[in-house]
Amino acid sequence: MRNIKLALCCLLLVALLYIGCQTKASKEAGVSTSAALEHEALVAKGNYIVTTGMCDDCHTPKKMTDKGPQFDMERRLMGHPSDMPIPRLPTDALDSWVLMDMNFTYFVGPWGLSYAANITSDPTGIGLWTEEQFFRSMREGKHKGLKNGRELLPPMPWEVIAQRTDEDLKAMWAYLQSTEPIRNIVPPPQPPEALKSYAMVEQ
Ligand code: HEC
Repeated sequence: MRNIKLALCCLLLVALLYIGCQTKASKEAGVSTSAALEHEALVAKGNYIVTTGMCDDCHTPKKMTDKGPQFDMERRLMGHPSDMPIPRLPTDALDSWVLMDMNFTYFVGPWGLSYAANITSDPTGIGLWTEEQFFRSMREGKHKGLKNGRELLPPMPWEVIAQRTDEDLKAMWAYLQSTEPIRNIVPPPQPPEALKSYAMVEQ
């Protein structure tokens, strides 16, 4: 009889322990599921802001269709394709024109020649940045978001993006970090003096 009581007690204890563990596990699972859902919602909001904020206009290469140039979404946000040649520039346009081609990933103006950056999650993009760098880049227009980074060149509209709320910038950052990493080393910008002697300028 005593043995049976003892066995029953043990059984009860095991059952209680089991229930206890289950509840803890499901609570933990619940917490991580809701954190994952929250992150998913943040990424979706970021995608919405990046899409409607027209980042693709400059940062996504285009493909030619019968309706004209359209975003090449397989190369979304990879910036100016490093293997794309720059056509020769008409020298007489340099004094008074701002120029860009149909791909809309490089730009010539009084600031020289600038290329849209790779902003995918790849290390050649902004994959190795911190959130703080992203905030500084968007709010202060600093290259790579570094305190002593050079000023970002036109036509990157950072002064407009700077007015977004912290929540918006956080969502954009979450989305950009979730993008497909695309390896593409965008060439450095050229100063105005370089344009005259640049091989692409008709002599
Ligand atoms: C009108 C064209 C244009 C639009 C629109 C645009 N960008 Fe840019 N962006 C550029 C160019 C050009 C550069 C490179 C500037 C430079 O080299 O100084 C750049 C640079 C950047 C950089 C800095 C990269 C670095 O290496 O420091 C980030 C980050 C960035 N853009 C994010 C965005 C986001 C996010 C959006 C949309 C909300 C956006 N851009 C919209 C043209 C644009």
